[in-house]
Amino acid sequence: MGLLHTSRMFTYMSRQIVRLPFMQYCSSGILSSTPSQRRLTVHSNEQLHIPVMLDDVLDFFSPEKNQVYIDMTFGAGGHSSEILKCAENITMYALDRDPLALDIAKQLSGLHGNRIIPLEGKFSEITRLLDQHDVGLNSVDGVLLDAGCSSMQMDTAERGFSISKDGPLDMRMDSDRDPKQPTAADVVNALSEADLAKIIRTYGEEKHARKIARSIVEYRTTWQPITTTKEFAYVVSCAFSHREAKKQKDKLRRPVHTATKTFQALRIFVNNELNELVMGLEQVEKILKPGGKLAVITFHSLEDRIVKRFLRGIDYSEKYSMSIGEKMRENRTRDGDDNRPQRWKEINKKVLEPLEEDIIDNPRARSAKLRTAVKIH
Ligand SMILES: C[S@@+](CC[C@H](N)C(=O)[O-])C[C@H]1O[C@@H](n2cnc3c(N)ncnc32)[C@H](O)[C@@H]1O
Repeated sequence: MGLLHTSRMFTYMSRQIVRLPFMQYCSSGILSSTPSQRRLTVHSNEQLHIPVMLDDVLDFFSPEKNQVYIDMTFGAGGHSSEILKCAENITMYALDRDPLALDIAKQLSGLHGNRIIPLEGKFSEITRLLDQHDVGLNSVDGVLLDAGCSSMQMDTAERGFSISKDGPLDMRMDSDRDPKQPTAADVVNALSEADLAKIIRTYGEEKHARKIARSIVEYRTTWQPITTTKEFAYVVSCAFSHREAKKQKDKLRRPVHTATKTFQALRIFVNNELNELVMGLEQVEKILKPGGKLAVITFHSLEDRIVKRFLRGIDYSEKYSMSIGEKMRENRTRDGDDNRPQRWKEINKKVLEPLEEDIIDNPRARSAKLRTAVKIH
């Protein structure tokens, strides 16, 4: 399996999926008992998700009157709201695959003179969705893509993303839209040990992937299918010795749960996140006008590598053993010098990272990386 998992894996999965009874975890908080009834009421002073690297994003876009933007990852609308405040009469197309985010977009639109136009769908569907609003190719001034999950998704136990909060092992960003899409539980209970190891190693960059996959298969065959996040975190932790577990640290040298990388891997796989990113970027290139601006925030090296390669015109499926510099030199030789049209002008050659004080205010920003570029033609 290459870095970007193929439709073969999905076909394989869907053949073997053991559909679990849909578990509805009901909390007394903001969520109601069934996904389709989830609703959030937005109050203007409430921050459901702190927008990451907001000042850098606004500085880069420097939004102007009458411009048209697309927020590919609307979430709680933190970035969009601030862009809209920068100048009069900006139109913001707000895409998100999570219907809850779209609910927020509808509510926030009222606060911004109906300048937010919600688009429900995935990155890969953006051209079609814009077409329905007569937004053509080469027409948009700015696109923001703030990849990954929102705090609303991560912090809601019922969505099944959280290691620390127990809930059904779900992890689908858009379960309401496509209830047939396999959950994380479907994946861990259906796939072979070898496939699980590949997913965990590829998408989690986890060097203990084989041991973790073995632990999952042993547990589910000896005991029962894995159904909750807590149960899954426990099964993963069983693959680590006490010494290995103590060595797990994040970028700030703080202890992290041994299942962190495995959770990331599963989430990426379940939501087909890397393929979506590639398809989204390719469509954005067509939608932006020449001189249009693209800002992409990513949260792990797999995503950042894709964005970097995309902006530099390098094939994403190339082996990672070659450095970007080597790859660029090789492309030049193969294509006959520098004849390949350069599509993007990168604004910061080095990726931007959040300031230390931003990370203290919002620890979730700690692994953020911002790349900005202008479409040349
Ligand atoms: C990090 S949050 C964005 C937060 C937002 N910038 C804010 O300030 O509130 C990422 C959002 O992107 C959405 N998302 C992730 N992948 C997506 C995809 N392939 N297509 C559409 N939306 C996606 C998620 O559902 C989530 O709401």
